[in-house]
Amino acid sequence: MATIHIDGTRSLGRIAPEIYGHFSEHLGRCIYEGIFVRPDSGIPNVNGMRTDVVEALREIRVPVLRWPGGCFADEYHWQDGIGPREQRKRMVNTHWGGVVEDNSFGTHEYFELCRQLGCKTYVNGNVGSGTVREMSEWVEYMTFDGVSPMAELRKKNGHKEPWQVDYFGVGNENWGCGGNMTPEYYANLYRRYQTYVRHYNNAAPIRKICGGPNVDQAEWTRKVLSTCFAFPQPEDAHGFMDGLSLHYYVHPGGWKNKGSATVFNEEEWYTTMAKALYMEDLIRLHGSVMDEYDPDKRIGLIVDEWGTWYDVEPGTNPGFLYQQNTMRDALVAAVTLNIFNNHCDRVKMACIAQMVNVLQSVLLTEGEKMIRTPTWYVFHMYRDHQGAQALPVEVDAGTVGGTELPAVQASASRRADGTVTVTAANLSMTEEQTVRLAFTEWKPVSVIGTLLAGEAHQHNTFDAPEAVAEQPLPVRPAEGGVSFTLPACGVVSVQLR
Ligand code: AHR
Repeated sequence: MATIHIDGTRSLGRIAPEIYGHFSEHLGRCIYEGIFVRPDSGIPNVNGMRTDVVEALREIRVPVLRWPGGCFADEYHWQDGIGPREQRKRMVNTHWGGVVEDNSFGTHEYFELCRQLGCKTYVNGNVGSGTVREMSEWVEYMTFDGVSPMAELRKKNGHKEPWQVDYFGVGNENWGCGGNMTPEYYANLYRRYQTYVRHYNNAAPIRKICGGPNVDQAEWTRKVLSTCFAFPQPEDAHGFMDGLSLHYYVHPGGWKNKGSATVFNEEEWYTTMAKALYMEDLIRLHGSVMDEYDPDKRIGLIVDEWGTWYDVEPGTNPGFLYQQNTMRDALVAAVTLNIFNNHCDRVKMACIAQMVNVLQSVLLTEGEKMIRTPTWYVFHMYRDHQGAQALPVEVDAGTVGGTELPAVQASASRRADGTVTVTAANLSMTEEQTVRLAFTEWKPVSVIGTLLAGEAHQHNTFDAPEAVAEQPLPVRPAEGGVSFTLPACGVVSVQLR
């Protein structure tokens, strides 16, 4: 028996909807085929965006979308992706498979996609191989509503009104693919480049994201913050940064032999769970350095790349990072999102990598077919946490599978209308759990539950698209709250009023 104690008398803070964000890179079949198919394609689309994909993404309320990379961002020259499509430059996508990138999806197409999704925008600029002028002109092109060379160019290309850039990333992984820089060097470049990310629209200032550490590089965090933050912020408003990024992927077998997405044993299951839970240690580690410089938590930790990364599906291009998605991925998503909810005072945005057909995708496509992955269902079941007040939870469940790992992991939140959402994951690969939800000073009068369950390796395919899908969860009254059976490797969402 596991008990999840929920303290409804206190809030841990607001869960930024952006914690449920996504990442789409010019990588493999994410943008091309997965999202964008060109307006004259036989696949139903609106202005080139696949209708099936957009509808499925709207169902999970995508709050923000990061683009164009990733490593691709530091090689992307935005002017190649504007103007008549047939005249756009063709280039080699050196990072991802050496394929031809024809730039048919560029700035205008990205904002059209975000319009259709109804989400915020997060554009990642090029520091590694781009100039300050190039970055500053991109910002002018996208956001200036007046007379200027870039605003005129945008109008000439068919978009009179400026767009809103909600977040702007100044480089990506500049310790690695974004230029192999030292933290000192990057931090000084950051100060310089961010100066020219101008707020042309003061009513909607751009939030600037500074390139942060890889995994546990606390030294990067410290050196970048001490150069970019530890001095009085300029008077004129938003300071030098609003967020610091963190990238962390779960590779069950390590970076070199990551392991298969669909073939794994019990030991690999628990290694994966342990590596997913490690996200909490990383938030604590970097959060404590951030607290030294920013005790008021003005700067968000932006986990703008996270998820599982396995060997590619046999027979697919190794540079395309295409992988299947099982109940194991659903558990990684559930555990990670619970961690973000529980640390919403510092984590202000997170983007799963990546949205379609790459790494831990929520959707997979093959020609005109599309399937929802188990990870999609987790985002669907967790959607009511977006914008709600996080409630403290304590889980009393013991450990699992002969490991030190908690058997059950959870988070909870309360929406403005009073509805409480509790999400929980059973980390056991084989054993079900009876779970009781117990509330401090509150008695729910109505309850509805949703369950995602299946054998650990189960996944959806183009022939069996709903082998894994949500189902109703039977819930019983119990002392001080309610109880239910949580199957092995199951995820639940319970709504109480
Ligand atoms: O998401 C795939 C790649 O992983 C990104 O391009 C890069 O930023 C990270 O190393």
